[in-house]
Amino acid sequence: MNLIFSSSASVDPDTQQLWAVLQERLQHISHQHPDAVFASSFGVEDMLLSHAIFESRLPIHIFTLDTGRLHPETVNMVDVIKARYDVSVEIVRPDQAAVSEHVTKHGQFGFYESVELRKACCFLRKVEPLRRALAGHSAWLTGQRREQSLTRSELADAEYDTVFGLQKYNPLAAWSESQVWSVVRALDIPYNPLHDEGYPSIGCEPCTRAIRAGEDLRAGRWWWEQKSSKECGLHAGNLQESKG
Ligand code: ADX
Ligand code: SF4
Repeated sequence: MNLIFSSSASVDPDTQQLWAVLQERLQHISHQHPDAVFASSFGVEDMLLSHAIFESRLPIHIFTLDTGRLHPETVNMVDVIKARYDVSVEIVRPDQAAVSEHVTKHGQFGFYESVELRKACCFLRKVEPLRRALAGHSAWLTGQRREQSLTRSELADAEYDTVFGLQKYNPLAAWSESQVWSVVRALDIPYNPLHDEGYPSIGCEPCTRAIRAGEDLRAGRWWWEQKSSKECGLHAGNLQESKG
């Protein structure tokens, strides 16, 4: 197991502590919920979580939602994970008939026209498949962090997900972006190459752009919308909390 930092690695003591706590939490979650599943978009946070899960051989099942509109670099991460960890990621896809009907009615790029159409596309390509992936499980894990956006500033480490009806864990909630990257670099964890091209947050290709200096981390996601609407429904509970 390569979970120890080499002496040359530049991981500060606070981050080393966070990493130790993370491993304990993951152990605890997998004991409490032997059927726990981890939703990965292959963003850098998710790659860090994957590493912790795979290297400790925790029985947490990993899946990804392939919306059909992802960048090739993102789709390729399934192979990167297979090569590095010898783990097969489950790929969950949307209902093709429903997607075709939506595209026939609203076109391939209807999501630029209104928040309503954007949410309808996210529902078909992400939310409904997520509901299927979570069905019958008692807990799920995500790589969300509080710092990522206004809608996540109140994010709990653990919460009951009232939308999908199961326990939800956000074990990286307290981590900063630089803490995530320092561990990723120290342990040579593979990551999506788009992160090196100005994409700190990566979603579907037509709905994600690179950010410019000084912009916030999620400025490139659904950039034509207001900040307050920028959740796709996977984490709808965040919107309820940020309103209250
Ligand atoms: S999103 O709601 O805006 O798309 P974001 O990209 O910040 O979410 O990712 C937050 C967390 O949601 C990820 O760490 C991951 O747990 C989950 N997630 C997002 N997109 C996917 C996806 N395509 N497949 C699986 N999980 C995802
Ligand atoms: Fe559709 Fe864009 Fe949502 Fe992806 S992010 S599901 S393309 S609206």
